[in-house]
Amino acid sequence: MEKVMVFDTTLRDGEQSPGASLTVEEKLEIARQLERLKVDVIETGFPASSPGDFEAVRRIAREVKAPVITALARALPSDIEKAGEALREAKHKRIHTFIATSSIHMEHKLRMGPRQVLSSAVEAVQFAKQFTPEVEFSPEDASRSDLAFLCEVIQAVIERGATVVNIPDTVGYCTPDDFGTLVGKICQHVPHLDRITLSIHCHNDLGMATANSIAGIKAGARQVECTINGIGERAGNASLEEIVMALITRRDLLPFCTNINTGEIYRTSRLVSRLTGIPVQPNKAIVGENAFRHEAGIHQDGVLKESATYEIMTPASIGLKEGELVLGKHSGRHAFKERMKKLGFRLDAYQLEAAFKSFKELTDKKREVFDEDLIFMGEEQTFRIPQVYVLEYIHTVTGNQILPTATVRIKKKGKVFQEAACGDGPIDAAYRAIDRVTRMKLNLLDYSLHSVTGGKDALGEVMVKVEAKGKMVTGRGVSTDIIEAGAKAYLNAINRLIYREGKRSS
Ligand code: KIV
Ligand code: ZN
Repeated sequence: MEKVMVFDTTLRDGEQSPGASLTVEEKLEIARQLERLKVDVIETGFPASSPGDFEAVRRIAREVKAPVITALARALPSDIEKAGEALREAKHKRIHTFIATSSIHMEHKLRMGPRQVLSSAVEAVQFAKQFTPEVEFSPEDASRSDLAFLCEVIQAVIERGATVVNIPDTVGYCTPDDFGTLVGKICQHVPHLDRITLSIHCHNDLGMATANSIAGIKAGARQVECTINGIGERAGNASLEEIVMALITRRDLLPFCTNINTGEIYRTSRLVSRLTGIPVQPNKAIVGENAFRHEAGIHQDGVLKESATYEIMTPASIGLKEGELVLGKHSGRHAFKERMKKLGFRLDAYQLEAAFKSFKELTDKKREVFDEDLIFMGEEQTFRIPQVYVLEYIHTVTGNQILPTATVRIKKKGKVFQEAACGDGPIDAAYRAIDRVTRMKLNLLDYSLHSVTGGKDALGEVMVKVEAKGKMVTGRGVSTDIIEAGAKAYLNAINRLIYREGKRSS
């Protein structure tokens, strides 16, 4: 079987999803998890786009050693220099440079003619070679480019030393036949293609990104660019888990393998969803909440008799071990520490003690504790951003015949502030009371609640998206009490906003 390299761009194209913006620490944690998933290449960011992106690429390049670490750069010397500098400490590094080749982009966006674009492309590749021998080139909007010009550009960049050429369906315009034919024609017309790795990069605007990626692989591509949960610009990118599981499940038709450790797929999906604040739709293939759920009696009966009747892959193959009871009220520190280690958390003594305290509090409220619950506690410690505002106390009064009210006590730098407010419901009242304490003008854009595990005593997880002065952040809160989870999520978003702006509140 031929190997297809998996190039993950969750931290670059995925982070371009509306509302997804990650801190440097969060990006680093996702990169570490991508390493456990065994992706071949991680695209870590676009260093010229912001100091935060530069820093994230630099930290990942320094700390994540197994995969190739890549960074994006426009075909501009200043961008390429920034990418080269951010990647300096990487063990295996690659610069990914791009310029659009479709007439619509050249004319309206770049305002450049084809000859100018061609020379920018080759100069960019040549310049990038100073920083690393591995250089990837993407002709942006390749799928809407003139084929002869596209092939000319590809040939020229190969001659100047590009080691990977990526064919993006930037606006998700292709159908599978169309895209497969395009990749096939490039293989046919461009000489010396065997000297490089041919890559594909599909967007999901028409819902065909996975199908197009498979068609591209069948036509000759040996690197596939994708994101966890398919997040990305607009309708997103091709989803890593869908492509990988399609290759495995339909090995009879698709004689290709990847390096991916599929047992880490579910965990990676949950981590990306939590940290970006982008929920996974319940019916999402492979990682959606319902992907392995059987509702119809006939299906349940079939699965109980023989799982292959209605399951084309097993939940365990993606690392989903539902409802595994792991620890209880009487579990001690040692068992807790070992379990956290097994779940991949590297907590220092202080973090471990704080997580153990939350675990003990949880066992008072909830009879059974599952891995999913523990993951929350581990993440709460791992991604702790400075807690400028901490919820000490919340009390709400609500009902269908009274005006909902909330009282909150919030600690800030050792001082306690108390406020009360009325609202349309208890959450609205609580958020108004919090606003009175923080005096920040926030717009609540989204609020979602879901239970972490089954059962009436399950932990409730609230994710919120808020906007302040044009900046959007997400926040997350977890508690067995959903109002408390909502208040924590809102304060988490506020703390992230303060952290991100680097501003110390007075
Ligand atoms: O979609 C696209 O064209 C891109 C390129 C930068 C590869 O993301
Ligand atoms: Zn893209």
